[in-house]
Order: sequence, then structure tokens, then C-alpha cells
Amino acid sequence: MKELSHKGKLFASSKIREMTILSNKYNGINLAQGFPEFAPPKSLLDSLVQIAQETTDHQYGPNWGTDNLRQAIAQKQNSHYRSALGRDINWEDEVLVTCGSTEAMMATYHAVFNPGDKFIVFTPYYSSYIADAIVVGAEPIFVKLNPPNFDFDYNALERAFAENDPKAIIVCNPSNPSGKVFTKDELEYILRLAQRYDSYIITDEVYDHIVFEPYVYTYLASLEGAFERTIACSSLSKSYSVTGWRLGYIIAPYEILDTIRKFHDLQTVCAPTPLQEAAAVALSYDDTYYDELTELYTRKKDILISGLDAVGLKHTIPQGAYFVLVDIAEFGYASDHDFCVHLVKDYGIAAVPGSSFFQDGNQNYIRFHFAKHDDTLYEVIKRLGTIRADHGL
Ligand SMILES: Cc1ncc(COP(=O)(O)O)c(C=O)c1O
Repeated sequence: MKELSHKGKLFASSKIREMTILSNKYNGINLAQGFPEFAPPKSLLDSLVQIAQETTDHQYGPNWGTDNLRQAIAQKQNSHYRSALGRDINWEDEVLVTCGSTEAMMATYHAVFNPGDKFIVFTPYYSSYIADAIVVGAEPIFVKLNPPNFDFDYNALERAFAENDPKAIIVCNPSNPSGKVFTKDELEYILRLAQRYDSYIITDEVYDHIVFEPYVYTYLASLEGAFERTIACSSLSKSYSVTGWRLGYIIAPYEILDTIRKFHDLQTVCAPTPLQEAAAVALSYDDTYYDELTELYTRKKDILISGLDAVGLKHTIPQGAYFVLVDIAEFGYASDHDFCVHLVKDYGIAAVPGSSFFQDGNQNYIRFHFAKHDDTLYEVIKRLGTIRADHGL
């Protein structure tokens, strides 16, 4: 047989998948694969039942997304964009519904990058950003987010722009896995550099509604002058606990979105029509829904981090999203992967080796997610109770 593609060999096999398989084998609690253990809002499920009974919405829909969903997305985001844009978002031309933010990013990369183009990405990073770059032949330039707060050095970012003249910068906000929420000042600095070097800004905003006090979320595209160069990718997955519905969206200027749309068409034709129609209702939830979501995740974060404190494990404190990085350096394992295998076999807890997120291969962390029932999180803490003593610490 002829050899398969070279690109296929460049992807590392997914550590999350590996840990999930081990978790199932050892009947573990899976804190590796980040999706909510709980149900989506009831009104969203009711809407799905209703759509399922209708005969009209089960065929291909418009490539850009159904009118109802695009209007609902624009309406939800208008209040954030209006002051800088001086008008409402044009839902017909400036919104594209995708199959999750994952597909939104892939279509965006195809539209923006030629082989050899450089782009800036903060490390630690969400793994898709690098895998997508392999597909299109773009070259990542890494700028560090420094633990424990995951701030970045403004001069280092400026140097990365000056030395590489990047085509784009990726901003994952709130960030996976660090939980960083970028301040307005940081976003303005990023914008000024992107303007100076005429770079696109690609944002990944899937956790925009999971931000913990006192941190405040700023949509980058809502800053004065940002809209014209910003491709804002987002998702319904996390905000409405529907990771399996595979619905995401992009808000961007028509001139950019029109090209992204071609790749979206090629990859998927359209996002699932009945799910788009069912989902529109969620986009019109009022602030109470989002306040309750924040409250829910704040409680889960507090259960996990106070439990980790009680068993003496060092950890990051997330500002947003639903991940905690646990510092395992003191355990002295040869690798974070070895530690994770031990953790799932002997304690029944699956985590992701942190090195899969760090460009420098940092082995000091593992990643837990906390989108779990409270009882599951308490059980995790119980299982971890003796871990330091078991290791003579
Ligand atoms: C930062 C980030 N972006 C995108 C995704 C995927 O989102 P979607 O389900 O919309 O494809 C995830 C999922 O974990 C994520 O953490």
C-alpha cells in the first residue's frame, strides 16, 4: 500500500482519548475529557422535542446557518459590539453557524493562512490550535503565559510581533487549560500590536460565560477598532451544556467571513438544521441564566480547589473556564504521563498530562476539569485523601 499522508504522522495521539480509555478500563472518574456531566436546560430539550416533531427542519439548511439561529446569535451579542461598531451586528452577513468552535477554527485557519504563514499563540494552549496549523502548514510562534496567574510579558509579545510579522494572533479567552481571563488592558495591548503589524485576531470564546469573580469578561471585538480584523469563534457547547450538539459560530466582517464560509461549506455543508432550530431559544436566555451558570461553576471550582487544599495538593486558581492545573512536581515521577497512568490505575481518577498543553514540554502539571456533579467532585477528593502520604510526602 502507498504511504498515507505525512501530515497524519505529525499529530500526537490524543492524551485525552488515551486517559478516557484507561478511565473506562479502571472504572475511574474521568476528569480528563472536559464536558458537563449534567443535563442541558430543560427549555432547550423541550425545544428539541418540538423540532423533532416538525417535518420541515430536517434537511440541509443554509450554509451560513438558519435565519433564526443567526438572528438570535446577533441579538445576544449586539449589546457587546454596538458601542464600538456604532451599529448592530449584521446577522445575515457577519454571523456564520459552524459545527462547534472546533470547526469554526479549522475553517478560519483555511481561510486565513497560506503554508509558511506565522501566527502567535500563547502557551499553554488548547491543542487544536497546533493541530490545525499542521493541516494548513502555518507556523506557531509561542508567547508564554506565566504561572501562577498566567500573565504575559508585554515586551515578549511585542518582540514576537516585531520578529515574525505574524498573519494572526490566537486569543483563547477564558483560556484552556490555564483558566486565564485576559484583562481589558491586555486585550487592548494585543489589539494595538495587531493593528501595528496588520495581523488578524482569532478569538476562541467558548468559555465566555464561565468567568469567576472578581474577573470580568471583555469581548475583544467589542474594543474600539477591533471588529474589522477580529474573527470571533464561539460555541453553544459549554454555555448551554450541549457539547454533543456540535454548534458553534463565528462573528466577523463580511469580507473575511465570506471566505471562511467557503471552507465551512466544503467541510460540513451546514451545521445540523434541527439542532440549530432547537438551539435558538437558548440564545435568548436573560442574564439570570448566565448568573446561575456562573454560580454553578463557581461552586464546583470551590469544591475542587478547597478539596485539593485539604489534601495538600498545589494547584492553579482558575479565573474562568472549568479546568485546574495540579502541580505534581513534588511527586518526582519521570513524566506527567506516568503520574496520570498511576492516578487512574491506583486512585481511579483520569487527568490529562499537562505537557500536552505546554510548548516547552513542562511536565509539572496535570489537568482536571470540574464540570461534574458535586458528589463526583467530593468523591475525587476522597480518593485523593492519602495520595501525598502514599508517596512519603
Ligand atoms: C478552548 C476550547 N475551544 C474549543 C473547544 C471545542 O469547542 P466545540 O465543542 O464548540 O467544538 C474546547 C473544548 O474543550 C475548548 O476547550
